[in-house]
Amino acid sequence: MNIAAAPNDMSDIIEADRTHVWHHLLQHKSLETVDPKIMVEGKGMRLWDATGKEHLDAVSGGVWTVNVGYGRESIADAVRDQLVKLNYFANSAGSIPGALFSERLISKMPGMSRVYLTNSGTEANEKAFKLVRQIAHKRYGGKKHKILFRERDYHGSSITAISAGGQPERNAQYGPYTPGFVEVPHCCEYRAQWDVENYGERAADAIEEVILREGPDTVGALCLEPVTAGGGVITPPEGYWQRVQEICRKYEILLHIDEVVCGVGRTGKWFGYQHYGIEPDFVTMAKGVASGYAAIACMVTTERVFDLFKDDAGDPLNHFRDISTFGGCTAGPAAALENMRIIEDEGLLDNTTAMGERLVSNLHVLMEKHQAIGDVRGKGLFCGAELVADRATKEPVAEKLVQAVVGDCASQGVIIGATNRSLPGLNNTLCLSPALIATSDDIDQITDAIDGALTRVFG
Ligand SMILES: Cc1ncc(COP(=O)(O)O)c(C=O)c1O
Repeated sequence: MNIAAAPNDMSDIIEADRTHVWHHLLQHKSLETVDPKIMVEGKGMRLWDATGKEHLDAVSGGVWTVNVGYGRESIADAVRDQLVKLNYFANSAGSIPGALFSERLISKMPGMSRVYLTNSGTEANEKAFKLVRQIAHKRYGGKKHKILFRERDYHGSSITAISAGGQPERNAQYGPYTPGFVEVPHCCEYRAQWDVENYGERAADAIEEVILREGPDTVGALCLEPVTAGGGVITPPEGYWQRVQEICRKYEILLHIDEVVCGVGRTGKWFGYQHYGIEPDFVTMAKGVASGYAAIACMVTTERVFDLFKDDAGDPLNHFRDISTFGGCTAGPAAALENMRIIEDEGLLDNTTAMGERLVSNLHVLMEKHQAIGDVRGKGLFCGAELVADRATKEPVAEKLVQAVVGDCASQGVIIGATNRSLPGLNNTLCLSPALIATSDDIDQITDAIDGALTRVFG
């Protein structure tokens, strides 16, 4: 496939970008000597940039979003048809795609019943935080308002979302933070904090210790990622989730699962939490909901929570007094509905499980060959390889070497990711999250590229 415009035609675009665009996460000094990367076209797993170079995308749009792959005309058609019919009305009223998508989504989430539409993962999480605070006011005189979050987890970019964020390098210099958010320890067994047999239960017990320290009557909710994503692809150890659920029930703490990354197929089930048999009170999701074909995110909750906000219609403050303007855009649910249809009709959950196993197994083979790989973790098509300078001490490799591996893969035409400005000294995990349509050949191409890169960078 060829991009529509020849590389020479792109100089104006590159100049406009260099002069006026402020890129996300980027230290812009680098663009004084190299051109900004501009992506032009995508099809399936592949992308073409402004120089005409082809890339195999092993990170689904950089940040684990394009779950069904690029160039899906049926989603574009669904969005177009909906936009010419009705593009927008505030979500205080309903829409046809909003109703149909909510119904289809809930059919995949036993125990849940209500969908609140919004437009970013940050915002979806913020909705759940607001509900927890309002429930505290309604039922506990404001006291049970604290929200627990976990070291190494991430829940978004706003000041309140970083207040619930366990990644110091994302948070530094943006304080003062929103009060009432309290950190619990991470559960990464490779970076063990306790020397015990039943690590999962021990890590969950650490949450209970925080609850007891803070006072259970002050803690309203616990917010966790099912698999910690940007904090290092941390799959929960055996026994962890079961104990977390018990603790939440014991102290009447609402369980908020942030599925912004894991949701809608990424781990081989519709939702990451569904691997662990847990019953959340809130589930938030964003990236894969419409695979980036439209901006849509959701906060989903139970009828039990929903009822609390309509049990006294005479009180003008009883309901959820919240709105997201773009939560009324119909393009989002129209795209999301078609996105779900594709995942079902193409059997992408099963493919994710099979290709995820292949990816992890290939990474284990690389681990035998390359001492630099200290640990391999993953669930479905969300995998990570932690790079270390010394396997015995687990000393992380220098960040510039991680970036050299990413850069080497890029020069081979394979885009991989790495933990980025997350934890001081621990931005050392390669991240892989190819689209759910990945084939065995794609997976092998990705791990072959990493093999070559590790050989060149570490010898
Ligand atoms: C687990 C998790 N939650 C929330 C967010 C925030 O989502 P958004 O960037 O759409 O606000 C992210 C973004 O990477 C995420 O990884």
